[in-house]
Amino acid sequence: MPGDALRWAEIDTTAMQHNAQVIKAGLRPETRLMAMVKSNGYGHGATIAARAALAGGATWLGVYTPDEALELRNAGIAEPILVAGWSPPSTHDALVSHGVDIAVFDVATLRDLATTARLRGRRARVHVKVDTGMGRLGVRPEAVDAMRQALRDEGTSIEVAGVFTHFADAESDLAFTKEQHARFLYAADVLRSNAAETLLHTAGSAAILNVAAAHHDMVRLGIALYGYVPRGTAADVALRIAMSVFARVVQLKTVSADETVGYGRTWRASTTRRVATVAIGYGQGVPRVLSNRGALVVGGNRCPIVGIVNMDQVTVDVSDSDGVTVGDAAMFFGESAGVRLGADEVADVAGTIPHEITCGVAASVPRLPREAADRANGGRPTAVP
Ligand SMILES: Cc1ncc(COP(=O)(O)O)c(C=O)c1O
Repeated sequence: MPGDALRWAEIDTTAMQHNAQVIKAGLRPETRLMAMVKSNGYGHGATIAARAALAGGATWLGVYTPDEALELRNAGIAEPILVAGWSPPSTHDALVSHGVDIAVFDVATLRDLATTARLRGRRARVHVKVDTGMGRLGVRPEAVDAMRQALRDEGTSIEVAGVFTHFADAESDLAFTKEQHARFLYAADVLRSNAAETLLHTAGSAAILNVAAAHHDMVRLGIALYGYVPRGTAADVALRIAMSVFARVVQLKTVSADETVGYGRTWRASTTRRVATVAIGYGQGVPRVLSNRGALVVGGNRCPIVGIVNMDQVTVDVSDSDGVTVGDAAMFFGESAGVRLGADEVADVAGTIPHEITCGVAASVPRLPREAADRANGGRPTAVP
């Protein structure tokens, strides 16, 4: 157990490295692997996730904000990085000087960037994002001619290092994905004529696993890096869960038949039950919607959440789990000692996706490499102190 922490997340870097390797092995050798480490590496820690992915064969990193890119550079990571969201003009100078690639999807941002690059005497590397049907960021296919013209006007201060798009439903709507792909190919043809080597990239985890024709020069690996196959994806890949979140049992009590537990008295014991209070709640990322629906792993078994999820704690019925004592580690999600309760399963119960569950683990929950947790525990990551 990591000191006297009441809650913590163990990050399994070998799992991320393995997942990157498994995904890379399914690509054509020339297709590059970009690891998406935005939102603090989907909650796992951006730098730790980036390093693990690079060790597993990724050669690019993807983030959403300029700050996230600079955080990686400041950590000493020298590999190519793409800021896939909008980079405000005030950030261009820092991004260009740190050699960070920038997504552009409007002519005004492109012109600002070109001005900065000229002032610096450098070339700014851009990836033009095309909106092929997602309806959020991107140049519409009908506007790519104007973008091409702007790229021509700016000349050598801009290098078109990539053209990319994002699919709206590569999990389950392959017909629409195909339509998006066709629009992308048209736009890429127009835009890439500006530069000799332009990487085309379209695929996140679902398309990586479902649509080999969309792999192109690079894929952008997100949730599968962290151990989860998107729902609706039939691919049979052996991924390993990278984050396991634990909290301690802080009290145990026997609740008699007909007694209630928690706010609003939403749970009533039908018979005498043993109830554990565990020190994790919605303040640390347990969705409140799991009240009376979800489960935690306590004593090696899934134990149902009873009553309402609180800000800092949750109550679980441990009657069917022998030998639970105060101080035991309960698992919110993850994998430990051969027991799996994935963020994907939690997400199913909560009506969301595993991305939201892993990203939702509060910054206040200390992350530590699983190797360190193992060492501190004499090889038993979730042992009782
Ligand atoms: C532009 C872009 N590429 C790739 C990804 C990775 O998607 P996934 O986590 O489904 O692999 C995302 C995730 O939101 C994204 O926004």
